[in-house]
Amino acid sequence: MAVEFSPATLEKFHETVSRYPKKEAAMLPVLYLAQQEFGYLGPEAIDYVAKLMGQSPARVHGVVSFYTMYNMKPIGRHHIQVCRTLSCALGGAEKITGFIKKKLAIELGQTTADGRFTLSEVECLASCGTAPMMQINDDYYENLNEERVTEILDSLK
Ligand code: FES
Repeated sequence: MAVEFSPATLEKFHETVSRYPKKEAAMLPVLYLAQQEFGYLGPEAIDYVAKLMGQSPARVHGVVSFYTMYNMKPIGRHHIQVCRTLSCALGGAEKITGFIKKKLAIELGQTTADGRFTLSEVECLASCGTAPMMQINDDYYENLNEERVTEILDSLK
């Protein structure tokens, strides 16, 4: 199945690119648009973005695989990203991740069988003062403990 932007996203693409002095500099926001449109950045989406940006698919793949905010395969409706960097690590991030793994019966990088959750570890999300913390889709959840994590996960359908 060929992938391509909807007319509305194509308009956003042109608007985004026009804000940068060089097309290549818009790579990250364009990839974000593509992820919003296609759900994840598989080989077809990467080829499509490469064509739009005038870059090689290998170059686009390199960018996508470097950043944890891009998903190269389908993910659950709620993408749990637990920060594992210093403040969060000292605050018990590993314990939080272990608790989530056990509660959802998945390992890092896996998605629950019902497609509800995908679990990842990420680097600092710039909310170190409220460690340990995690991001789920676009929202931050801070000062976590097992009770709070249970409440949060149970509230997400
Ligand atoms: S160390 Fe976790 S948000 Fe910075």
